[in-house]
Amino acid sequence: MTLLTVENLRIEASASKVAVVDDISFTVERGEFLALVGESGSGKTAAARAVLGLLPPGLRKAGGRIVLDGVELATASARHMRALRGPAMGMVFQEPMVSLNPAISVGAQMAEGLGLHERIGKREIGRRCLDMLARVQIRDPERTYDAYPHEFSGGMRQRIMLASVMLLKPKLLIADEPTTALDTLTQREVLDLMVGLARDHGTSVLLITHNLGLVSRYAQRALVLRQGRMVETGTTRQILFSPHDAYTKRLVEALPRRGTVAKQRQGGEPLVSVRGLKVAFAGRQRLFRRDAGVSAVDGVDLDIDAGETVAVVGGSGSGKTTARPRHAAADPGLGRSDQIPRQGRHGDGRSRLSPRLAAGVPGSLFLARSAHAPRRDRRRTAASRGAIDVR
Ligand SMILES: Nc1ncnc2c1ncn2[C@@H]1O[C@H](COP(=O)(O)OP(=O)(O)O)[C@@H](O)[C@H]1O
Ligand SMILES: [Mg+2]
Repeated sequence: MTLLTVENLRIEASASKVAVVDDISFTVERGEFLALVGESGSGKTAAARAVLGLLPPGLRKAGGRIVLDGVELATASARHMRALRGPAMGMVFQEPMVSLNPAISVGAQMAEGLGLHERIGKREIGRRCLDMLARVQIRDPERTYDAYPHEFSGGMRQRIMLASVMLLKPKLLIADEPTTALDTLTQREVLDLMVGLARDHGTSVLLITHNLGLVSRYAQRALVLRQGRMVETGTTRQILFSPHDAYTKRLVEALPRRGTVAKQRQGGEPLVSVRGLKVAFAGRQRLFRRDAGVSAVDGVDLDIDAGETVAVVGGSGSGKTTARPRHAAADPGLGRSDQIPRQGRHGDGRSRLSPRLAAGVPGSLFLARSAHAPRRDRRRTAASRGAIDVR
């Protein structure tokens, strides 16, 4: 059964009348995951916003039909559209702060949405919000309820956003590059939660992405856009394994594959050599006490040869940025200088980044393991170590 039908949609830049979305048609079935794929500027967001009836100033719908659950959206009044946004269709954006109000607590924002659309008492609203926060694996829903969006990391914010959108059990969820700003593992956690929630509520999902890896993992069908036009549509399998269009073929060929590792350079002295690097951030001085400091990098060894590319890989907060040798050595703001060994000194710190380098990963591209991660969430850190152990 079809939930959303888009027919011959055309969206123009109001000033120039140039089409940014040109004659695209697709359907989303009930309970289906459809991916809208295309490079940046191909019109994905414009198409999604047209469905929601929320085109930005500067763009206008110049033709076509959009039917959601039997309602022709072009003829729906502004009031009707407002009533549909939320329970009929919800949207999650790449940057949750676009939709989360920084001045209002998380709970108040969630409760407001629910109160607008459902006739239920305050207690019930509060209970449903807390349940939903727990459902998106926020460990302390009560504290989160009273906290403000800026207090959370990007991944947590995106979960909060997902919770507040899914609270209304929308029939269609439009997710516009919802995890592009997140690291790979957090990305997967958020999307897995999204899929789980969508299944629970029978929600169809229009997943907008430029990442074919995500398409293969999550979507049943995909639609490929380029410069506002549809270049290909089909099942995910067909698009990934037998693409017809030259552009889709290029996208598929650009997918990273395991096993194609660059050759490793042999011999010679390393250009940069780091041993036992430790960087600690001193705790901030409060009125009566000092916060505990953070050990951002602990015992990292790293060699870089001339002309070589070294990848430092790790989840967010694992110390990648701090571990940059020049950064760590040169920045006086990073902890006490006696905590930063000089380059080239051979420390006795347990090597965390180097084993793979020493073991000789076949290629000059180093796939390094996560450095010591100063995160409260140990479970996640352990997971990220295991998962990053790429061969
Ligand atoms: N508010 C706007 N006014 C005028 N042109 C816009 C506006 N927003 C986007 N565009 C143009 O529309 C095209 C499609 O943009 P968009 O839908 O954001 O692409 P995508 O989401 O695929 O990256 C781009 O060429 C962009 O420059
Ligand atoms: Mg976009």
